Amino acid sequence: MAPRAQRLRPAAAFVLLPLFFLSVARPAFSGRYSPTWASLDSRPLPGWFDEAKVGIFVHWGVFAVPAWGSEWFWWHWRGEHKIDFDLFVRSRFPPGTSYADFAPQFTARDFQPHAWARLFQEAGARYVVLTAKHHEGFTNWGSPVSWNWNSMDTGPHRDLVGELGAALTERNIHYGLYHSMYEWFNPLYLADKKAGFKTQYFVLEKTLPELYDLVSRYKPDIIWSDGDWEAPDTYWNSTSFLAWLYNESPVKDTVVVNDRWGINCSCRHGGFYNCADKYKPGTLPTHKWEMCSSIDRRSWGYRSDMQMDELMDASSIIKELVSTVSYGGNYLLNIGPTKEGVIAPIFQERLLALGKWLNINGEAIYESKPWKVQTENVTTKIWYTSKAATVYAIFFIWPQDNVLNLSSPDFTAGKQVTMLGFPESLKWQWTPGKGLQVRLPSTVPSILPLQNAWTLKLVGVE
Ligand SMILES: *[C@@H]1O[C@H](CO)[C@@H](O)[C@H](O)[C@H]1NC(C)=O
Ligand SMILES: *[C@@H]1O[C@H](CO)[C@@H](O)[C@H](O)[C@H]1NC(C)=O
Ligand SMILES: *[C@@H]1O[C@H](CO)[C@@H](O)[C@H](O)[C@H]1NC(C)=O
Ligand SMILES: *[C@@H]1O[C@H](CO)[C@@H](O)[C@H](O)[C@H]1NC(C)=O
Repeated sequence: MAPRAQRLRPAAAFVLLPLFFLSVARPAFSGRYSPTWASLDSRPLPGWFDEAKVGIFVHWGVFAVPAWGSEWFWWHWRGEHKIDFDLFVRSRFPPGTSYADFAPQFTARDFQPHAWARLFQEAGARYVVLTAKHHEGFTNWGSPVSWNWNSMDTGPHRDLVGELGAALTERNIHYGLYHSMYEWFNPLYLADKKAGFKTQYFVLEKTLPELYDLVSRYKPDIIWSDGDWEAPDTYWNSTSFLAWLYNESPVKDTVVVNDRWGINCSCRHGGFYNCADKYKPGTLPTHKWEMCSSIDRRSWGYRSDMQMDELMDASSIIKELVSTVSYGGNYLLNIGPTKEGVIAPIFQERLLALGKWLNINGEAIYESKPWKVQTENVTTKIWYTSKAATVYAIFFIWPQDNVLNLSSPDFTAGKQVTMLGFPESLKWQWTPGKGLQVRLPSTVPSILPLQNAWTLKLVGVE
C-alpha cells in the first residue's frame, strides 16, 4: 500500500493548513534573534557541543528492509538504476512489491534502546544522532502529519525516536535528531518543485509541522538538518524556524544545529558546519565543524551484503577521529542497524575498539582545544591537541629506536612527559633549536595498554 501522503492532492493539503501554526509557530517577535542569517549566525554555539567531540550517527529507516545498495534504495530504484533494482526486488520479494510494502517488514523487533545506549556509552560517545526522518519520508515517531507513513502506524508500531531518547538521557548522552527537509517522492514537495519553489504547500504541511513537533516532543540537543539542497532557505522558512528554536523553544539555550538549511547555506550559515559529507579541511577552520563518517564506507544505512574490505578498521577510525579533533572538529561516526534493530557485531566491535582507545586517550580528546600547530612529521606523523599549558601529541607509528622527536613544542619551561595509560614518566631532552626528544617506554609491546595510536602528554609547554 502506498503511503497515504502520496495520494494527497496539493489543493486538499492547502485547505488543511495547520491551525497548529497559529498557536505555536507565529508568536509575536520577542527574542534576541531575528529571522535573518546575520542575527542567527551571531548566536554563540552552546559549549557542550565542542567539548563532546565524539558522537554516533544512526541511519535507520525502511531502507533497512531491502538493505541493499544504500539508504538511497528507493531513489535508485525509481531512477537511473531501475533495472538492477527491479531485478533485486523481483528476486527477493513477491511480485508487484512497492517501496511502501517494505514498511511492515521494518519490525524493529530486536530493538533494545537500553542496550544501544550502553553500547554507545562504551564507544565513548557523548552524543548520538538518529535519523528521525530520512529522504524516504518515513518518520520514526508518530508524526501526526505523516498519515500512515510512520513507525507507530506501521512496521515497528513503536516510538523509535522517543524510546532511544529516553535511554540516552538516562546515561547523560546528548540526543540529536537528523531530519531531512525534503522527501523524494512526496507529491506536495514535487508540486512545489514544479512551481519553482514559489509555492510552499509541502513546507507548511509537512516539513515545519514535523520540525516543531520533534522539538516540542523530544527536546533534542541537536537538529541535524539535511535534504535542503534543491531549494533556497526562503522556501524552507529556515530562518523563522531557527529564530523560534533559539528564542522560544524548550531547548533554546542548549540546542545546536548544523548548516544544511537551503541552497548555499552549507559551510556558511547555521550552527556548526558539516560542509560536505566526510569533509576534511586542510587547515584549521575558523568556525566549529563536525566530520561525519561511516564505518561502512559505501553506505550510511545497513546493507546485508557489505564486505569486510569495505569497512573502516579500528585504526582508520581512530586516525580520522584524531585528525578531526586536532583541526577543531567533532567526529560523528555512523552505523546502520538492521530492520530488526540489531547493530551488527562487526559494527559493535569497531565501536568498542574506539571506546577502549578513548578510555585511555580520551583526556587528549574530550574538552580539548586545537593547539597552535595541528600536525608535524619529524620522526613520524604527530597530531596535536591541547588544554592550556598541556599539549597532547598523538602518533600512530612507533619509532624503531623508541625515540620520538617533536619540533613544534617550546619546552623551555617543560615539566613532565608521560604517555597516557603508562604509569612511569618518560625521559626527555629539550634542545633549543633542535626540539624535544622523548624516549618512549622500551618494553615488550604486550605491556602497553593499547595498539593503534599513543598519546604523549607534555606538561609545561610555553
Ligand atoms: C515563513 O516565512 C515567511 C517569511 O519570513 C513568514 O511571513 C511566514 O509567516 C513564515 N511561516 C511559517 C509557518 O513559519
Ligand atoms: C548560490 O551561490 C552562487 C555563487 O555564489 C550564486 O550564483 C547563486 O545565485 C546562489 N544561489 C542562491 C539560491 O542563493
Ligand atoms: C612522515 O615522514 C616520513 C619521512 O620523512 C615519510 O616516510 C612518511 O611517509 C611521512 N608520513 C606521513 C603520514 O606523512
Ligand atoms: C632526534 O633528535 C636528536 C637530538 O636532537 C637528533 O640527534 C636526532 O638525529 C633526531 N632524529 C631525527 C629522526 O630527527
